[in-house]
Amino acid sequence: MFAGCNLVLTLLIVSFVGQSHGFWPFTVSATTDAPDTVYADAGAKRIAIIGAGAAGSSTAYYLEQFANNSGVAINVTVFERNSYVGGRTTTVNAYGNPLEPVELGASIFVEVNAILKNASHEFGLHATESGTETEILGIWNGKTFVYTQKEGGWKYWDLAKLFWKYGLAPYRTQRLMQTVVGKFLKLYEFPFFPFRSLSDRALDLDLISVTAQTGQELLAKNSIGASFATDIVQASTRVNYGQNIASIHGLETMVCMAIEGAMQIEGGNWQIFDSMLKTSNTTTLLNTAVDAISKTNGRYNIKTSSEDSMTGETLTNEEPFDTVVLAAPLQYSDLKLEKGLLKHTPDEIPYVKLHVTLFTTNKTFSPSFFNLTTGAEVPTTILTTLPVDEVPEDPTKGVGSPGFFSISTLRQVINPATLEQEYLYKIFSPEKLTSEFLSNLFGTEIPKDLSAVKADSGEAITWYYPKVWHSYPYEFPRVTFEDLELARGFYYTSGIESFISTMETSALMGMNVAQLIVNDYLQLLEEKAEGETPAQAILEEKPKNEHVEEL
Ligand SMILES: Cc1cc2nc3c(=O)[nH]c(=O)nc-3n(C[C@H](O)[C@H](O)[C@H](O)COP(=O)(O)OP(=O)(O)OC[C@H]3O[C@@H](n4cnc5c(N)ncnc54)[C@H](O)[C@@H]3O)c2cc1C
Ligand SMILES: *[C@@H]1O[C@H](CO)[C@@H](O)[C@H](O)[C@H]1NC(C)=O
Ligand SMILES: *[C@@H]1O[C@H](CO)[C@@H](O)[C@H](O)[C@H]1NC(C)=O
Ligand SMILES: *[C@@H]1O[C@H](CO)[C@@H](O)[C@H](O)[C@H]1NC(C)=O
Ligand SMILES: *[C@@H]1O[C@H](CO)[C@@H](O)[C@H](O)[C@H]1NC(C)=O
Ligand SMILES: *[C@@H]1O[C@H](CO)[C@@H](O)[C@H](O)[C@H]1NC(C)=O
Ligand SMILES: *[C@@H]1O[C@H](CO)[C@@H](O)[C@H](O)[C@H]1NC(C)=O
Repeated sequence: MFAGCNLVLTLLIVSFVGQSHGFWPFTVSATTDAPDTVYADAGAKRIAIIGAGAAGSSTAYYLEQFANNSGVAINVTVFERNSYVGGRTTTVNAYGNPLEPVELGASIFVEVNAILKNASHEFGLHATESGTETEILGIWNGKTFVYTQKEGGWKYWDLAKLFWKYGLAPYRTQRLMQTVVGKFLKLYEFPFFPFRSLSDRALDLDLISVTAQTGQELLAKNSIGASFATDIVQASTRVNYGQNIASIHGLETMVCMAIEGAMQIEGGNWQIFDSMLKTSNTTTLLNTAVDAISKTNGRYNIKTSSEDSMTGETLTNEEPFDTVVLAAPLQYSDLKLEKGLLKHTPDEIPYVKLHVTLFTTNKTFSPSFFNLTTGAEVPTTILTTLPVDEVPEDPTKGVGSPGFFSISTLRQVINPATLEQEYLYKIFSPEKLTSEFLSNLFGTEIPKDLSAVKADSGEAITWYYPKVWHSYPYEFPRVTFEDLELARGFYYTSGIESFISTMETSALMGMNVAQLIVNDYLQLLEEKAEGETPAQAILEEKPKNEHVEEL
């Protein structure tokens, strides 16, 4: 009902404003602010992007395109405190061997992820299907395997088998997912793109109805049986987000079921973001943290620090910018913001603390760990769910009796010290793994001190790489999302993570913010040229109706 009204309103504004501005933002609140001197410079507008992850890189990439298309002169600097581009999208090298990179963070994207797909195509990066033929999938609830499937892994659910076991539930889930994803994809297109408020747009697209409830409620309302929801859908929400369907919202639950055409970039997904920066005519400063932001004479003063690689000395710098894009969660950015700088301060978001453990060994899983008989075939990819009668006391303890979210056999690798073939494994868990757990998993003695393992020590583990991430938010049901413009000319991308947290959605927010920034500049140019206020410009615009018909 509300959503319908809002869409009508959107269409009305669209039809009045039309396309002559090209990209007039719908939510007019930000643009009705009295114009200040922020953009009043005659020269190229200086834009600071904080963070070179998916969001920041995409912002830079699309800024270049949109500014060029509109004839706006810009000068972009990307600040990244890490020594690498990619943020939560990064690889490490098994055994320290550059020929064996492995994803430590975001590992897959899917067919409908148009930004990532198009960009990898444009940059000539090779996308491979993830999942292997030899994979055996098992869904473990801590007591028993509730589902197993030979070949293809979880990205290729065996539909015939699912239908046989769960009736129409897989079909209904698929249909529901397609409807929800279809609505989401409208965010990429006029008139829904660009957007100044994700809350408004989620309402316009009737996506609030799926973010407002848990995955469990959404599935139940769509007559999707509890056993399919618990066995299959929850295995997916746990491997993707470390959360159960009783607490994760319906939209993110549907995203977990949208796995068609799962792929990854050979050598590492981070290369997409690296190429975005390299082709975007921006200055990227690695090992450079933004420490503080203040405002002087209508411009943002960005204070940075970096370490001199020769002397180890800390170098600080301070420069003025017209526009700032914070492309990282505010709460982890260690930014000192001048009091009163922000008009809206984003809420602290509860993030999942995820332990990702990568390691190599020539051992395979012990059947007895899973209560299987000696010699039984053990699945190579193990997802988890909860027993039907188990209700976690709170979402942060959602892992329950399995004790881990997933264990994957990624591929076979060659130990460079022994030249023997071994396996590369990845485990997602809410706590640090213990050598006792690993000893039971492999049915063999695992060294107590895993920090000291070596490729040639003759021990069971030959390479060990643990990492703790603030990986993604707990996606609790909600109906509003953080503002993207925290102050005039100060944009924030991470609010979208409570809606959907993926590389693609961060990149989408980057593309969106890039368009808003260019629109801001165009508006100021126009104001200067015509000597009128934006409100007058709206009123004088002739109504155009063609876009209403399109819908
Ligand atoms: C283990 C794991 C698995 C995942 N799996 C998937 C998956 O399969 N598919 C998928 O699509 N997504 C997945 N995700 C989620 C995905 O990684 C994120 O949603 C996405 O990468 C977020 O990108 P971002 O640019 O918004 O943030 P980030 O990648 O966090 O980038 C922010 C950057 O800002 C920098 N920064 C912060 N503060 C400052 C400062 N003050 N000065 C300078 N630089 C600063 C940080 O160093 C960082 O590089 C996964 C995440 C994790 C951790
Ligand atoms: C910029 O625009 C011009 C003309 O519109 C086009 O020829 C050129 O390829 C564009 N450059 C980039 C980097 O997009
Ligand atoms: C961008 O601005 C900085 C600071 O004014 C300047 O040093 C730099 O040369 C500019 N870059 C380009 C490509 O104009
Ligand atoms: C790169 O940016 C500078 C200003 O920042 C501009 O002078 C130059 O034309 C840009 N180059 C391209 C290829 O867009
Ligand atoms: C991706 O490429 C397709 C085909 O060229 C195009 O229609 C679509 O608009 C592109 N999407 C994005 C987000 O770049
Ligand atoms: C495995 O089976 C034994 C005996 O049937 C039982 O006591 C034990 O709890 C089971 N272990 C798990 C993890 O379910
Ligand atoms: C695994 O490696 C150990 C130590 O190098 C070796 O003794 C053992 O024979 C290997 N086992 C297999 C199954 O290859």
